[in-house]
Amino acid sequence: MTSNAANTQSLLPVRIAGTGSYVPKKILTNHDLEKMVETSDDWITSRTGIKERHIAAKDEFTSHMATHAANRALEQAGLQGEDLDLIIVATITPDTLTPATACYVQQSLGANRAIAFDISAACSGFLYALEFARVAIAAGSVKTALIIGAEKLSAFVNWTDRDTCVLFGDGAGAAVLSAQKNDSDTGKILSSHLGTDGKQTAILNIPGGGSACPITLQNAEQHLAALSMQGREVFKCAVNAMRQASEIAIEKAGLTSEDIDLVIPHQANLRIIDAITDRLKISKDRVFINLDKYGNTSAAAVAIALDEATRSDAVKPGDRILLVAFGAGLTWASAVIEW
Ligand code: ACO
Repeated sequence: MTSNAANTQSLLPVRIAGTGSYVPKKILTNHDLEKMVETSDDWITSRTGIKERHIAAKDEFTSHMATHAANRALEQAGLQGEDLDLIIVATITPDTLTPATACYVQQSLGANRAIAFDISAACSGFLYALEFARVAIAAGSVKTALIIGAEKLSAFVNWTDRDTCVLFGDGAGAAVLSAQKNDSDTGKILSSHLGTDGKQTAILNIPGGGSACPITLQNAEQHLAALSMQGREVFKCAVNAMRQASEIAIEKAGLTSEDIDLVIPHQANLRIIDAITDRLKISKDRVFINLDKYGNTSAAAVAIALDEATRSDAVKPGDRILLVAFGAGLTWASAVIEW
């Protein structure tokens, strides 16, 4: 199932007015992991491109990381919590099953006027949030929205399973969205595209902890509340879905892949990214990579990368940026932004 989302022409144009990101202090390197499971820096680097990841402290929750990233995005946008009408947190690792992590963030930002809720679309979550916030602003129902991708995946990883524990990290990224007022405004959202395939729920999931399989003393020992993944299957689906999603968003924006100055892909695996950009005929110097430092931070990955790229010299005014993601669900999403 795919959406007809975003040809923005008939509605108010929407822009990204500020971005922010945050990663926890503690770094876990591939060499650290060599002491925990039977793996090697060489295997992890050659199969994924990941060298290290950041791990949140025990008392540092998803909402704390989300709030740090949000404060940076608000500061760049020149706004405060009370200016927000809408907060969406994309996460698969909420502080609590209920209330939503977005409610904790609303409180810590003092965003008393904002409605706040979470969405669960795994690694595509930030771009799902982007699209639904864009539509709300474009339709005139809200003025200013904060979207956040935030994850504490380290709390949902089986640290004895080498197939998965080497892949993930913690962190948060955020963006403030508002209507575009002037032609010179940066961060204009040109197009977006979302898709879901619910036939593939079994290849990537956290099987326990929900109503289908509440965690008990017995099944906790089987690590049922940890991420489980059929890596090879996910790899193939990720390449196909992200290539197609990229092509659709580029076409909806009235562009070709030659017009894309920078691709900011989901940061799961360098080999997946290379396969997609090769098929799109986009050279490696036009692809933003930070997975070597952070690993796969699921919903936070594209958000952190967008913040880092746009605060660095990787992005110049007027550049067209393709964002593309893929995750459990299966879900996929893409967007083209003019900076
Ligand atoms: N260290 C050493 N060896 C390992 C490790 C490890 N950490 N993990 C697996 N291996 C072994 C396997 O046991 C296997 O051994 P065998 O051949 O003796 O059976 C061998 O390495 C090869 O395993 P594969 O699974 O075939 O390795 P592959 O090349 O597919 O790489 C990986 C695995 C990195 C997980 C890859 O499949 C991948 O990136 N998949 C997609 C992940 C992704 O994109 N996820 C996105 C969404 S995540 C989300 O939504 C939360």
